[in-house]
Amino acid sequence: MNVEAEPLEILRHRTSVKWTQYPSEVLPLFVAEMDYPLAPGLSRVLHERIAASDSGYVGSPGELPAVFADFAERRWGWRPGLGGIRTTTDVSVAIVETLRQAIRPGDGVVITTPVYPPFVDFIAEAGGVVVDVPLLGATDRPSGYALDLDGIDRAFAAGARAMLLCHPHNPLGLIHPAEDLEAVAASAARHDVLVISDEIHAPLVHTGQSFTPFLSISDAARAQTVTVTSASKGFNLAGFKCALMIAESERTAALLDAMSFEVGARTSTRASPRSATTRSGSTARSPRSRPRASCWLLCWRRPCRTSATVRRARDSSPGSISAPSVGETTRPAGSWTRRRSPWYPASTSEQRAPASRASTWGARRRCWPRRSSGSR
Ligand SMILES: Cc1ncc(COP(=O)(O)O)c(C=O)c1O
Repeated sequence: MNVEAEPLEILRHRTSVKWTQYPSEVLPLFVAEMDYPLAPGLSRVLHERIAASDSGYVGSPGELPAVFADFAERRWGWRPGLGGIRTTTDVSVAIVETLRQAIRPGDGVVITTPVYPPFVDFIAEAGGVVVDVPLLGATDRPSGYALDLDGIDRAFAAGARAMLLCHPHNPLGLIHPAEDLEAVAASAARHDVLVISDEIHAPLVHTGQSFTPFLSISDAARAQTVTVTSASKGFNLAGFKCALMIAESERTAALLDAMSFEVGARTSTRASPRSATTRSGSTARSPRSRPRASCWLLCWRRPCRTSATVRRARDSSPGSISAPSVGETTRPAGSWTRRRSPWYPASTSEQRAPASRASTWGARRRCWPRRSSGSR
């Protein structure tokens, strides 16, 4: 596919931070926003939604988890379980909110510099302390750098409670090889450390390279990891505010479930299809038959049929778009309310934080529970 950047005179009319922070004689290269036009399909969906005045709140993640799972399976051969996927505004919020649930003030959080500098701020915002284990020079690696696996193990052994893994690594574009990821996962399991794998750049790799999602690595990785990701870098959608948090174990999913309802509810309207539930109440559709993509769904998966959907609604009720009647709910079965996840036995769900804690997480943090006692 041949894609060309917009001409400079067009780019200078954009209102994003990249094009407004500095005087016009500066060529801004400081932030990862693309200079390419949006993919035509994304642009079309956004126009259609605006034309339909479809700009209210998001009701639930809808079909986004399923569509992301389809994407991940196609792209990386990894299919995350749907029960452990939640949405929020962006990857930064996903990291901070996950840390808030996992650490106590003063706990160490490993980063591997040079790395995306806001990691330092995220850790401070969640009350943690940075434990830096710099990357090592590695002449035998194509990138010239590698994780310091012994250093990471030592940091875990010394008491760090979490790690922010940048995978692929920004700014080096380093795709950590599977054997390094296995070593990190094994070490995290040995010392019971939570790994937050930031995979925001994963859809962008050079031809010939392949990306391995951290959660696909091993049982140890699945037990110790929350992956955070988004379509914002791969498809230039940062301003549309939607990220995914993915957990594949009971313990890590419990961290996500303990977050405030608002962490999910602030996701952009554009993140969710208008309805993920059929009129018969079923949400189980094959990928082929999933209707009504939002622009996020589109970029993870395929073109949508929003126009036709809106047209049909108009035709059925001339002059207005009909709202569902009482009892004909558009709320999908899986939503952000604290629910009994199909991933867990009922008893485990019921042990989770009561709903009244939802708005007070700042005061009463839930920490990454110790394996044996469940508290510390
Ligand atoms: C590694 C990494 N994580 C997170 C972010 C921020 O993502 P978001 O805008 O979704 O918070 C960036 C932005 O460039 C990044 O490079």
